[in-house]
Amino acid sequence: MGRCRWLLLSPWALHGATVEGRDVRRPLAYPRFEAQPLLTPAQCRKVRRRAASELQFTEATVGSGSVGSHGVKAQRGSRRAKFAGVPKTSFFYSQVYRLLWDRINATNEKLWRFAIAPGTMEFMQYSIYAASDLGGYSWHEDVGFHSETASRALSVSVQLSEGAAYEAKFWADGKVRYSQVVRSRWDFPRIGVNASRDAGQAIMFPSHVTHRVTPVTRGERHSLVLWLQLDTGSEVDRELPAPVCNVQVASRRISSVNMVELTYGRTDNCTMQDSIGAFVEAHGFPAQHQSSVKRQLGEAMTSKCGVL
Ligand SMILES: *[C@@H]1O[C@H](CO)[C@@H](O)[C@H](O)[C@H]1NC(C)=O
Ligand SMILES: *[C@@H]1O[C@H](CO)[C@@H](O)[C@H](O)[C@H]1NC(C)=O
Ligand SMILES: *[C@@H]1O[C@H](CO)[C@@H](O)[C@H](O)[C@H]1NC(C)=O
Repeated sequence: MGRCRWLLLSPWALHGATVEGRDVRRPLAYPRFEAQPLLTPAQCRKVRRRAASELQFTEATVGSGSVGSHGVKAQRGSRRAKFAGVPKTSFFYSQVYRLLWDRINATNEKLWRFAIAPGTMEFMQYSIYAASDLGGYSWHEDVGFHSETASRALSVSVQLSEGAAYEAKFWADGKVRYSQVVRSRWDFPRIGVNASRDAGQAIMFPSHVTHRVTPVTRGERHSLVLWLQLDTGSEVDRELPAPVCNVQVASRRISSVNMVELTYGRTDNCTMQDSIGAFVEAHGFPAQHQSSVKRQLGEAMTSKCGVL
């Protein structure tokens, strides 16, 4: 098993062979990073607003390049941030997981073809780097020797803040502007990239690529960080459950079942209205009741479940 992992990380070793009975696919490219918008600024605002009222933040603890590993001593010098795990089961955040998975999977299929699966996504981290404690994270890689980090393949960081909401120092010249920087350690010092600071922009990179977050000197930088581990062939979920929102509707038509389950967000194209429309159709509501039922459902879903 362990052998497969390392084979997958060495592109030159891949020739579409079969390893222990499984197909191993050659990467189509092996870029050290890929920048893309993954969320819209409006979606970022919704995530920020909900996170502020719902998530429990703690100080980040970091040692030898790994995050949140058990038994690892905090080194405040290396990472200064607050973070919170993002629940996978709540309706609102499951939409975020779904959306990010779909786009990350599509990109991975075009570039690296790491054997990742929905079930190998770790819990996302909502991170806050604040000027109040010169929040930052010095050069590091996300793959470690601890069991929790050893099979990380792909790292993704999504900017949630507006670029204007903070300033960060660039360590070399003491000046502004960039926050997340990715580079290859072996191409030291010049080859690398400064990640975009626009809300919703993401940078994806193989987890062994060296990167850092330069210290924030004004405001706060909020981001979502995801790690995708290799699917090593054990029992992992290869399907992502569709977000399900349970809402109550009062209607004589369905008085015996007043709790309805609406499945929403199965694809990028499935809007809340589509989902409600399908529900109303499936239950055969008479035409004169449809708009009132749709309105009730829309209000209930928006307030109770939160639509991304
Ligand atoms: C990942 O993308 C590939 C290629 O589009 C697709 O065949 C596969 O079903 C996707 N996997 C999941 C779990 O969404
Ligand atoms: C990132 O921006 C800083 C500040 O302008 C610059 O000095 C540095 O060379 C840039 N790094 C890369 C990899 O482009
Ligand atoms: C989503 O809608 C667009 C435009 O209507 C269409 O081109 C695309 O194929 C649809 N995607 C899916 C996954 O249905």
